[in-house]
Amino acid sequence: MKQLSHCWVFWAWGGGENITHPFAILPTGIRLEKKEKSLRMRDVDRNMEDKQTWDDELIFFVNGKKVVETNPDPDMTLLTYLRRKLGLQGTKLGCAEGGCGACTVVLSKCQPDTQQLLHHAVNACLAPICSLHLTAVTTVEGIGSVARQLHPVQERIAKAHGSQCGFCTPGLVMSMYALLRSKATPTMADVEEAFQGNLCRCTGYRPILEAYKTFTVEGGCCGRRGQNDGCCMSEQEVDHEKPSALLFNAAGFAPLDPTQEVIFPPELMALSKNQKTCSLRFQNKRTVWLQPDTLDTFLHLKWKHPEARVVVGNTEVGIEVKFKNILYPVILAPAFIPELHSVEHSSDGIVFGAACTLSRMESVLKQAVATLPPHQTEVFLALLEQLRWFAGQQIRNVAAIGGNIMTASPISDLNPVFMVAGCKLTLIDKDGSRVVRMDDSFFVGYRRTLLRPQEVLLSIEVPYSTKHQFVSAFKQSPRREDDISIVTAAMSVTFTAGTSVVEDLKLSYGGMAATTLLATKTAGQLLGRCWGEELLEHATSLLAEELTLHPSVPGGMVTYRQTLTLSLFYKFYLIVLRKLRGQGLNVETLRPDFLSATEFYHAETPSSVQIYQEVPKGQRQDDVVGRSVVHLSALKQATGEAVYCDDMPLFEKELYLALVTSSKAHARILSIDLSAAEQSPGFVGCVFAGDIPGSNTCGTVVQDETVFADRQVTCVGHIIGAVVADTQLHAQRAAKAVKIHYEELQPIITMQEAIAAQSFYQPIRTIQKGDLQAGFQQADQVLEGEMHIGGQEHFYLETHATVAVPRGEDEEMEIFVSTQAPSHTQFLVAKALGIPANRVAVRVKRMGGGFGGKESRSTILSTVVAVAAHKMQRPVRCMLDRDEDMLITGGRHPFYGKYKVGFLNSGKIVALDVSYYSNAGNTLDLSLSIMERALFHMENSYSIPNVRGRGFLCRTNLPSNTAFRGFGGPQGMLVTESWITDVAQRLGVPTDKVRRLNLYREGDSTPYNQVLEQITLDRCWDECLSRSGFQERRAAVELYNKQNRWTKRGLAIVPTKFGISFTAQFLNQAGALVHIYTDGSVLLTHGGTEMGQGLHTKMVQVASRVLGVPHSKIHISETSTSTVPNTSPTAASASSDLNGAAVKNACQILKERLDPYKSQNPKGSWEDWVKAAYFDRVSLSANGFYKTPDIGYNFETNSGRAFNYFSYGVACSEVEVDCLTGAHKNLSSTIVMDVGVSLNPAIDIGQVEGAFMQGVGLFTLEELHYSPDGVLLTRGPGSYKIPAFGDIPTHLSVSLLRDAPNDKAIFASKAVGEPPLFLAASVFFAIKDAISAARAESGISGPFRLDSPASVERIRNACSDRFTQLTPSAKPGTFRPWSVQV
Ligand SMILES: Cc1cc2nc3c(=O)[nH]c(=O)nc-3n(C[C@H](O)[C@H](O)[C@H](O)COP(=O)(O)OP(=O)(O)OC[C@H]3O[C@@H](n4cnc5c(N)ncnc54)[C@H](O)[C@@H]3O)c2cc1C
Ligand code: FES
Ligand code: FES
Repeated sequence: MKQLSHCWVFWAWGGGENITHPFAILPTGIRLEKKEKSLRMRDVDRNMEDKQTWDDELIFFVNGKKVVETNPDPDMTLLTYLRRKLGLQGTKLGCAEGGCGACTVVLSKCQPDTQQLLHHAVNACLAPICSLHLTAVTTVEGIGSVARQLHPVQERIAKAHGSQCGFCTPGLVMSMYALLRSKATPTMADVEEAFQGNLCRCTGYRPILEAYKTFTVEGGCCGRRGQNDGCCMSEQEVDHEKPSALLFNAAGFAPLDPTQEVIFPPELMALSKNQKTCSLRFQNKRTVWLQPDTLDTFLHLKWKHPEARVVVGNTEVGIEVKFKNILYPVILAPAFIPELHSVEHSSDGIVFGAACTLSRMESVLKQAVATLPPHQTEVFLALLEQLRWFAGQQIRNVAAIGGNIMTASPISDLNPVFMVAGCKLTLIDKDGSRVVRMDDSFFVGYRRTLLRPQEVLLSIEVPYSTKHQFVSAFKQSPRREDDISIVTAAMSVTFTAGTSVVEDLKLSYGGMAATTLLATKTAGQLLGRCWGEELLEHATSLLAEELTLHPSVPGGMVTYRQTLTLSLFYKFYLIVLRKLRGQGLNVETLRPDFLSATEFYHAETPSSVQIYQEVPKGQRQDDVVGRSVVHLSALKQATGEAVYCDDMPLFEKELYLALVTSSKAHARILSIDLSAAEQSPGFVGCVFAGDIPGSNTCGTVVQDETVFADRQVTCVGHIIGAVVADTQLHAQRAAKAVKIHYEELQPIITMQEAIAAQSFYQPIRTIQKGDLQAGFQQADQVLEGEMHIGGQEHFYLETHATVAVPRGEDEEMEIFVSTQAPSHTQFLVAKALGIPANRVAVRVKRMGGGFGGKESRSTILSTVVAVAAHKMQRPVRCMLDRDEDMLITGGRHPFYGKYKVGFLNSGKIVALDVSYYSNAGNTLDLSLSIMERALFHMENSYSIPNVRGRGFLCRTNLPSNTAFRGFGGPQGMLVTESWITDVAQRLGVPTDKVRRLNLYREGDSTPYNQVLEQITLDRCWDECLSRSGFQERRAAVELYNKQNRWTKRGLAIVPTKFGISFTAQFLNQAGALVHIYTDGSVLLTHGGTEMGQGLHTKMVQVASRVLGVPHSKIHISETSTSTVPNTSPTAASASSDLNGAAVKNACQILKERLDPYKSQNPKGSWEDWVKAAYFDRVSLSANGFYKTPDIGYNFETNSGRAFNYFSYGVACSEVEVDCLTGAHKNLSSTIVMDVGVSLNPAIDIGQVEGAFMQGVGLFTLEELHYSPDGVLLTRGPGSYKIPAFGDIPTHLSVSLLRDAPNDKAIFASKAVGEPPLFLAASVFFAIKDAISAARAESGISGPFRLDSPASVERIRNACSDRFTQLTPSAKPGTFRPWSVQV
């Protein structure tokens, strides 16, 4: 065995090297049959008889308390342990795959050698409980609470309005806490890095960064004190207006006092110091966890169990076990083996033990770069560039270098660098070691290496670079932060000294084959050549030949991936050219306009401005309407005390439910085999269609669905039945064991297939006004076009959840659920159970986000759970896993728009004929209303005299699509903005001129004949132009584009008009119930649900004003069908309007009842008046009711008022596109939004920013991929990317239009939830603008099609140039693609 020589040897826990896991090796994809399993287990037992002594006691600390577990379960994750065993519900489950950060906790450990304490954020969902020996776990509950004392990290995120639904908040709190434990005064860059692994779907991230900026070197906003040094608020000078007060008062925050932090448990310190070596062995019936303490034992065990999995971070294995259902019976955890954790500087490079974590590698490399001569660190810098974008910090803190190499993923980000650097790997087994170079012989197939089964990877030597060597690495992924690569590459060139002659060249690519590969043919032919244009030309055509992909290749994006290989080489070529010139070599000049292509992404610290109207002078201090009251649950959300559905403690005899769903898009069910499921541990029972006591029929608008599929399935994910068992794990395993036999039928998956088959739901809606034919005749020019808009997953951080509790008498059932529609849930549950609605009580405390996804689709799960609870007569719970939720519950409708537009040469639009198609899926759900809204928004903000819009609902075999913030409006308007861009491009005039020319004016009427009153579009437009400095920006963009060939900037200003009301007239009603108790406290209930949007906070503000009591006296407990019946779903942005008016009504009634007592005792207190009324036998409880007056629209006659009023807004965005990769940066967005007189500026700005960022996701990032068979391929944060922290515009300005009272809603306010979402289209069209500039360089002008989202692939493909020409696409129809545009 090779002894490690002694230079600097670190044996350190660099952030979780000992986070190991409970499953062990079998070749990937192979599952053990039962017989084999028991053989293996016996085998293990025999090995245990070896001389080795094993401990079975796991000792760790949680929030300072010692936990001792004898023989813990190797299957259990820390998250399950915290939530289910310790009842610590603050840590949330968002994905179970390390991709959302909701489960972040801090692990602290004492370094055995230095006694230094290390604190790291980790994902509890991936950390096996067995890996925690001698660690201290800190959860959100451990650092503070509302009752005890808030930690500053909790206080600041809450009070700075950084918590809306709050489901992400504990994870963010813990990421920040971990950072502060390691660095008391971090920089903003540190904060952004700390949050790479955390997602938030509500806030748009800005307020979170603002909150935590207060801890940083940069500090919080200075309140304009630092104006001369570029204060973020100086923009307000544009209008010479008085600046708005800050939305939070940082001066009131408790200071951070690092000395007051939770201390590392002294007992653990002592245990760590005196740590005698021990070997751990934990075992359940399926798996054994072996954690030996010497390398010899480790190798001996590996020799005995070649199939054993070596587990360090569990970030690969954990995913395989959870999502691929692979069983690994033997796990070898090397956490106690010093040799695998050492770091050694040798004469040739740095030798990392294979179990060193990526965080540790990063810090060692950074230190080396800081101290070594630059020529030695080219490889290190390339690795650091890859590590910068490698997962999030929680993953990097635990994932090992060896894990990355040995997983042998073809898209590993480190392996290309290791390959071009020629790293040396030391492989070892019990008989000795060998050293192999990491070259093209190392990976022998998909996820396979040349390691022998008994061998493990001991270490990797990363070499110093040499004097004439240049190395670069590139990673291209859909999202910059925490994303897996589409193509990843590393390149190294060595020149003959003093020349530009290539002596050695290595080009390595990931994502282009089943393994990471070296382009040896290309590299070989370039040896001896000079670095110049001729070499480039030759290299790109050779690469185009060598690196090809079959058009059906998994992952798709074939043309893009091939183009990337050339583009990335070109970048390398330019970078090297620059460096050679820097060394004074006589090589070709690097054109100045090419320079930006050589620069790596540089993030700038985001800045923001929020402008709003403060309450009028003289408004009573205790009148909180119009003030930035903090979300009433924010503090509890930040401490983990806020209770979500699945946080409720288990009920006695509770069962867990797992769904049995269809794996076919369209098929007959031939048989259901339960035999294996029934044998599963913990199995209690099943429910299928035959178990429904009432009706199996259900639906949203029409009853066209079934609770359980009956004989036929019509989509993948269609619910066929469910299994109940004693635990979640058992229920899920049993559900997977149910075997269904199908007879497959021809499915319809895409809209194009539906159009070809004329597969539409009826009716086909039309809105028509004017004379279309005359309009087109009048037009100077007519233009036709089409576009596709992809769907969107809601990605609420809390997935669907229900707990159903049979009450034991009169068939009463209580349903706790995460839904926007309690009354509809009640109706459907009662129907399925065959009981009256008065026996079903539906209760909603809060949701961890909804966005429309819990308006109708939540009822399916609730009904299933209720049926199971009824059958078993026991409480039943289910919270969907993220992948199930994404598979089953549908999302935003994909749209396809075809248009013909007639216009004058002035740019005035005179005729529009547009057809919309939406992919409705397998049931109607809300698709008709969604299409209607798309049609109501087909002209967006423009006056068009002659217009026809038609809407077709494609019936397909996808899970039914449903409501999503904007409800069809964004899709309708994106098509509008697309044709208006085409018109401008055809005319060769700026798009903003065409937009402005056609903008609605006061008194204009819409295609559905509604006259527009109190229109503020022009004010929003002008304010946005001036706040954004549009004209100056335009000039700067043009200059930039002249000076840069391969990066282009684009600018766009886009308006929106959004109609407020449910389009179904009857839904425009609301109720409220207000009780005043004799101590003066007020209990308020209304029909709306709280999903993070701050509805309850606003309702309390309304009640507080009307009753004239401080808002602290008013409490909202929950939404329940037992208190306010027959409620409309919380949707259509109208909930504050509707419920606010109902609350006002109830409070006014009560106020009038109390007024006499107030008059009798004017100096008395609220409590005095309440008591007096009570003793006078006056009812202190009142119902309120409201219905929106004068609305109702008739499609037949195109008459009536469709909307109560409109919300308006305008946004201007600037982006920078990397034309070679398709990546873009959001440089700036300026939003002006009319929200009337804001009820709560902080909440409204939060809604504007959150909606805007969700729109940024919709239009530029989020892509759902479906196979041609209708299987959703993107089922979690790993493959489906919502915007992350790094996607927010570097500069974001939000202004709420001043002096714009709305006489149609409560206290002159306006709806805000949905309207701002579409403003993110300004980013989409800014990208299109930048692409136009890139195309112009290749001599291409005029309109072009850009589908949504403007993904990296679409952007790159649209930027036509010499490289795209070398990679033509395969002809459609000649191959079966990996995914189809649905
Ligand atoms: C959310 C998330 C984001 C990710 N992002 C990225 C990314 O950006 N880029 C990227 O490349 N990868 C990424 N990954 C993949 C993964 O994190 C890495 O591959 C990681 O380095 C694996 O290390 P680990 O210690 O967690 O492996 P484990 O899961 O513990 O083990 C992985 C495999 O390696 C084997 N193994 C480990 N050590 C040895 C050894 N010494 N000898 C022999 N076999 C060994 C194990 O047997 C097992 O098969 C991501 C994963 C997740 C969950
Ligand atoms: S739940 Fe752990 S990262 Fe999402
Ligand atoms: S507040 Fe972040 S996900 Fe809701």
